Amino acid sequence: MNPMKHESARAHVTGRAAYADELAMPQGTLSLYPVQSPHAHARILSMDCSDAERMPGVWRVLTARDVPGENDTGPILHDEPLFPVDAVHYCGQAVAWVLADSEAQAQRAAQCVRVEYQVLHACLSIQQAVEQESFHLAPSRIVRGDVQTALDDAPVQLRGEVQIGGQDHFYLETQASWVQIDSEGIVQIVASTQHPTETQIIVARVLGLAAHRVVCRSLRMGGGFGGKETQANPFAAVAAVAAWHSGRAVRVKLPRSLDMQLTGKRHPFLARYELAADHSGQLRAARIELIADGGWSCDLSPPVLSRAMVHVDNAYYFPALEVNGRIARTHLPSNTAFRGFGGPQGIFVAEEMLSHLARHLGLPPEQVRARNFYGLDAAHASGMTHYDQPVRDNDLPELWWQLLRDSDFASRREAIDTFNATSPKRKRGIAIVPVKFGISFNKTEYNQAGALLHVYADGSIQLNHGGTEMGQGLHTKMLAVAARSLGVSPSRIQIMPTSTDKVPNTSATAASTGADLNGQAIKAACETLRERLRPIAAELLDCAAQDVEFVDDHAQPRDVPAKRVSFDKLVAAAYAQRISLSTTGYYRTPGLHWDPTSGKGHPFYYFAFGAAVAEVEVDGLTGVHTLRRIDILHDVGDSLNADIDRGQIEGGFVQGMGWLTCEELRWNAQGRLLTDAPSTYKIPSLGEVPTDFRVRLFHRELPRSTEVIFGSKAVGEPPLCLGLSVREALRDAVSAFGAESRHVALASPATPEAIFMAIRTLTG
Ligand code: MTE
Ligand code: MOS
Repeated sequence: MNPMKHESARAHVTGRAAYADELAMPQGTLSLYPVQSPHAHARILSMDCSDAERMPGVWRVLTARDVPGENDTGPILHDEPLFPVDAVHYCGQAVAWVLADSEAQAQRAAQCVRVEYQVLHACLSIQQAVEQESFHLAPSRIVRGDVQTALDDAPVQLRGEVQIGGQDHFYLETQASWVQIDSEGIVQIVASTQHPTETQIIVARVLGLAAHRVVCRSLRMGGGFGGKETQANPFAAVAAVAAWHSGRAVRVKLPRSLDMQLTGKRHPFLARYELAADHSGQLRAARIELIADGGWSCDLSPPVLSRAMVHVDNAYYFPALEVNGRIARTHLPSNTAFRGFGGPQGIFVAEEMLSHLARHLGLPPEQVRARNFYGLDAAHASGMTHYDQPVRDNDLPELWWQLLRDSDFASRREAIDTFNATSPKRKRGIAIVPVKFGISFNKTEYNQAGALLHVYADGSIQLNHGGTEMGQGLHTKMLAVAARSLGVSPSRIQIMPTSTDKVPNTSATAASTGADLNGQAIKAACETLRERLRPIAAELLDCAAQDVEFVDDHAQPRDVPAKRVSFDKLVAAAYAQRISLSTTGYYRTPGLHWDPTSGKGHPFYYFAFGAAVAEVEVDGLTGVHTLRRIDILHDVGDSLNADIDRGQIEGGFVQGMGWLTCEELRWNAQGRLLTDAPSTYKIPSLGEVPTDFRVRLFHRELPRSTEVIFGSKAVGEPPLCLGLSVREALRDAVSAFGAESRHVALASPATPEAIFMAIRTLTG
């Protein structure tokens, strides 16, 4: 397939690409600004808005009383009041929103709203939640085999505990929405949302309307990364309430610090494990406890925890495995989807255990890892996950050996050992880490998609699908799918902003499934259209209908390609014959089922595989490290667009590396976020991107047993997990400061301080 540029590449670099907050807004659009709680947990005793409402430009202060429908935006449970009624549950929470002519006026007035609080006890960490038994929902569990007996009988038994830090999404475009109620009373929303249908439903709920009275559009996002899967909804909802009362268009656009204070992040986890193996490093069993910090409300925590629980195996076969999961209820922002959706935290624990085992035994970690890969025979027990889904098409062993070879792993290992032997203050480390990532939403019903295709009588085409564009290149891939399916050039096709009045009942663009699901729906819509055009072409070409081919903007008989008719002419003829030129397409992923109660089923259509080799150098005096080289080999199948996939792999890797090495969230003792700006919250910048960064796409030759769109594989999230290679390489370098091989406890993120402390512990 021809490599196409990202459909907005030029607009991105020239600054012409418009985002939700930059679209021309009606004159007189009003702005909102929150009144924030200074306490993490407090009872609201009284609120006095009279001074604020007398300030210049102020329309009114919106509170719970102003909600015409249900005062709740919870996506799964209804446990998330839009405006708190009697209590606040995290520091910075919006207790009211000021509506004013300008954001500056609203912000000034917000300071004049007087709220009286009675401060209550706040629970600010997973540890505190465990001590106080503060949890959301019941525990969940997945078990295979007789874990206790396997643990008791094994010659090697280990225990460990590790804390995994959270991560702010730091999308370039912060949360933004605007809402206007049109002349027909239809609520028109433009939002930076990954899930326009859910935004539509939540706004309808809050306004007390049926869904058909609300339309939500999303043109493009300046990044979502999971942070706009549910958490765009409250901001659209508050703008909708304001538009409802004022009759004006209303916008919300969060300044960066507000965005960081108000929105949830990647879930921090506390993990404990008991691990059993033999002396060769072959795994026998594990019992793992995962506690996710859900924050104040449930949001998406249950499915995030589920995904973590079905990824604690990563690529490894545990003959017996028990995973217990809980969601801590804390007085912090409600944690949410973030690239990988719990999968990275699960995989983190797998890699922690494998590393612990290898160093405990004094074996090379890469050997212990490879020894425990799922088998190639999915019908055999060693090809079966703990949730009873066989690992089919296991590319990993082949990919792994290819990467070891291509990256010269063995000779670099030797060179590093030689370097370390003569370098007391600086040590180098190297590690290879695999990833196996399940593709599909765990929640089976989300695995469906729709498309709407309009062909105009002049031969031009509008394409609508249910997915949203957040920079990941989905629209570009979808254009390519439509062009290929119709045999026309992409320039003929206009991709339309995602809108709930074009394609209804869509799923979030998430779980890396955007191209898989929407691509199939688009292909179906195109095939329906082609079949309508076929008899007309046959007539014009004077051939049999089944012999018509659609290529290069023409229809032609298969065996006489020279005798052809242009797509424009064909469409005009179809119109003249009164043939409908508008089609829909629909797709649902076959064969999926999942029982959240038993934790068993077949939740994934297939697995994505990849591996990365990282080489680092650590300065023992400061704990600062440099990345010397990264090699990645990732399986994207027959890529729909190799440049875009490469961008996803590079970007995902760097984002994962940021999570694991420099992005550190800190709260003070009262639960106020201290790291709410780029000056205090360090995301990776160009300086941290390895200069020697080698990304290759894996080419598999196995026959494909699953039908994915043109043979491509999902790529949005899995490469984030490859950042773990940096963590493991750092651990390797740190261990070189010690005398003998032993487990190296390393905090996450592995900041310079954390690395320095790890070296100190080792060298005592
Ligand atoms: N890439 C960019 N540039 N911006 C993003 O916000 N989000 C990631 C990933 N890649 C994201 C991104 C996440 S969390 C997901 S689930 C997928 O893209 C969603 O898009 P897809 O399903 O089309 O891959
Ligand atoms: Mo991605 S976390 O599934 O939006």
